[in-house]
Amino acid sequence: MNDFELDVINGLSHSPRFLPCKYLYDERGSDLFEQICETKDYYVTRADLELHETQLPKISQLIGPNAHIIEFGSGAGTKTQQLLASLTTPRAYTPIEISPTALALSVEALQASFPALDIIPLEADYTQDIDPDDLSLDPPASRRVVYFPGSTIGNFTREEALGFLQRMAKIAQKNGAVLVGVDLVKPVDQLLRAYDDDEGITAQFNKNLLARLKEELGAELDLDAFEHEARFNPVLNRIEMHLVAKTPTTIVVANQRFDFAVGETIHTESSHKYTIEDFQNLAAQAGLKAEQVWLDGEARFSMHYLVPKP
Ligand code: AVI
Repeated sequence: MNDFELDVINGLSHSPRFLPCKYLYDERGSDLFEQICETKDYYVTRADLELHETQLPKISQLIGPNAHIIEFGSGAGTKTQQLLASLTTPRAYTPIEISPTALALSVEALQASFPALDIIPLEADYTQDIDPDDLSLDPPASRRVVYFPGSTIGNFTREEALGFLQRMAKIAQKNGAVLVGVDLVKPVDQLLRAYDDDEGITAQFNKNLLARLKEELGAELDLDAFEHEARFNPVLNRIEMHLVAKTPTTIVVANQRFDFAVGETIHTESSHKYTIEDFQNLAAQAGLKAEQVWLDGEARFSMHYLVPKP
């Protein structure tokens, strides 16, 4: 059994049922996610981009010259280009990415935009521990800035996000900083619209996971028996994506049978929303002090500059 199959069996056997959100992002899923970012209802990407456009002069001033930017992710996006362009004589840029193909493609694109920049990619899983020595430079940078844009930190549970912040603090080291994007709490109807857009793209994105079960694992299932639902969980302050059974139905995968009653769901992704104070408290638990926070014009999205506590 491959990892995907094992994770599917494990998730569908669990009560309540779930599937790990990383499986939403195959080629089609990643393409659909790009389309979500363009919908009028999904405000997150627009707010993040606006924040970058308006606040980068201040952010780059705080980072200062000669910095080593270390990104959790391949750095393929516009935001990385904007950050790098705003810096004064950056010492180096390191994208950390598990997929060698994605890494190579983004390095090629970035090197074309910044021919003089020292780009030192690291092929690794940033959800696991990374040895800070693997990122040493000679001569050293003035400081390391661990950059994690978007609001991917929201896709982790609070405990996972804490572990993440701890790992970022370890990499930043004592003179460094963590620059992380965080989506903010807002009225529930606005959140529900963002995760169940009018054009139905998020629904396709969620249902693509079931299509993968069919195509890649040979699962027997009725795609039309499930529908996408976005729910707000007020206890955990998060939006949850679910696949809800509309009729009694069965999924058979790897010779195992999973029966669904009407209304039974598979939980496929969570997006945690924070207040600024709440996120700063979480960062403090990871040994990080909030030095500065920037918001977009409508206070939908935040970017935090955190430094290791002495
Ligand atoms: C990737 N991540 C930050 C998105 C989010 O908002 O949680 C994923 C997403 N899922 C549905 N819409 C967008």
